[in-house]
Amino acid sequence: MSTVFLGSIAHLTANPFENPNALEIIEEGALWVDENGKIIEYGKRSDILPKALEASIEDFKNAWIIPGLIDGHIHFPQYFATAAYGGQLLDWLVQSILPAETALANPTFAHDAAHRFVKHLLSCGTTTALVFGSQFHHANVSLFNAAKEYGLRLIAGATLMDSPGEGIPDSLLQTPQQALADAESLISFCSNEPLLHYAITPRYALSCSDGMMQVCRGLLHDHPETYLQTHINENDGEIQAVMGHFKQHRDYLDVYDHYGLVTERTVLAHSIHTTDRELARIAQAGCAVCHCPSSNLYLGSGLFPLTRHIDKGINIVLGTDIGAGTSFSIWRNLSDAYKIQQLQRLSLDAAHLLYLATLGGAKALRLDHETGNFATGKSADFFVLNPLKDNYLGERLSHCDSLKQQLFCLLHLASERHIEATVVGGRRVYGM
Ligand code: GUN
Ligand code: ZN
Repeated sequence: MSTVFLGSIAHLTANPFENPNALEIIEEGALWVDENGKIIEYGKRSDILPKALEASIEDFKNAWIIPGLIDGHIHFPQYFATAAYGGQLLDWLVQSILPAETALANPTFAHDAAHRFVKHLLSCGTTTALVFGSQFHHANVSLFNAAKEYGLRLIAGATLMDSPGEGIPDSLLQTPQQALADAESLISFCSNEPLLHYAITPRYALSCSDGMMQVCRGLLHDHPETYLQTHINENDGEIQAVMGHFKQHRDYLDVYDHYGLVTERTVLAHSIHTTDRELARIAQAGCAVCHCPSSNLYLGSGLFPLTRHIDKGINIVLGTDIGAGTSFSIWRNLSDAYKIQQLQRLSLDAAHLLYLATLGGAKALRLDHETGNFATGKSADFFVLNPLKDNYLGERLSHCDSLKQQLFCLLHLASERHIEATVVGGRRVYGM
């Protein structure tokens, strides 16, 4: 049986950086979904309800129905390592993060963490996540199984490290041969699962030997449906270390390019200090870039140059970057994204912000045929935001002149506390 979900609809029908009319808001809206979880049609409820006479009705009243949020960068093994004190990227990694990642060596702990992690993302309205997995294969098996069980659209892969160094726990290092075998087995698992995808994940240039990079190249070549994710140009000290290590390369991107890792399936996290040459090459190759607002502020990494990326036509997705990020909510990260651009004299509006977290993110992850807005035939992935759960928010919205103004207020003032339900493929995955 089909279902009609009732509420105020807000989504993007196009890219607002190119089209000023891309944001569509429908008060008293309706989203009509078939029994396979695909969108039949959306519109005013007075137009949809007379056509959907056989459908069951889920009435969210005055709450907002918004496409599921897309988190383009988050570290599963850092689930319990948020808000660790002190230092910028490289010190923070050695002091706080790498030790925390060793905890997933314990299969019971890892299984429990995987279930908590997936449920937490769904409770924040995230329906699609690109995840840096654990170094331990059993933990990644738990992660994929949890995503399958709870209904998260997941792209993930083992975080690859085989270069020993001061402060790097030995237990986090794999051999290239082991990395290859583990990846092959999870790629095969994902091939039968419509919501699951594999991402080859060299942690960053400094963590991987020539042999590990060759394994990544081979996997990407042999499995063109996989993704490649890594970090780039996040922090000054990191860039200096990379250039000191790879002296024969002209810049950071060139290290990845040398191994054939710069492709249209590649998602590069951070890209704060990227040079003009690197940007041109990223655009030419069709890589996506992931901007991680709260992480960049927390680690003091720098101000993401959004305009330089957009001007080159590079697709952008947003990431929480847990554990450097301080919120699991992409919605909360939008407010930080706004402020980071304000500091650079760019005032993003509600359309730009919502786009980055939904349709824009889906495009960047090459999933916009499946998710990102309410176009007919896409999967019904959305969350329900109810501002009336909060007295102040309800009162504040009553002082807005338009629904677009209300949406802008919500982007700054609402959080996961106001989420009533999350739905993936028409199935309620949070808020029973
Ligand atoms: N660069 C290499 N590893 C990491 C990580 O775990 N977090 C962040 N923010 N940057 C990294
Ligand atoms: Zn990261």
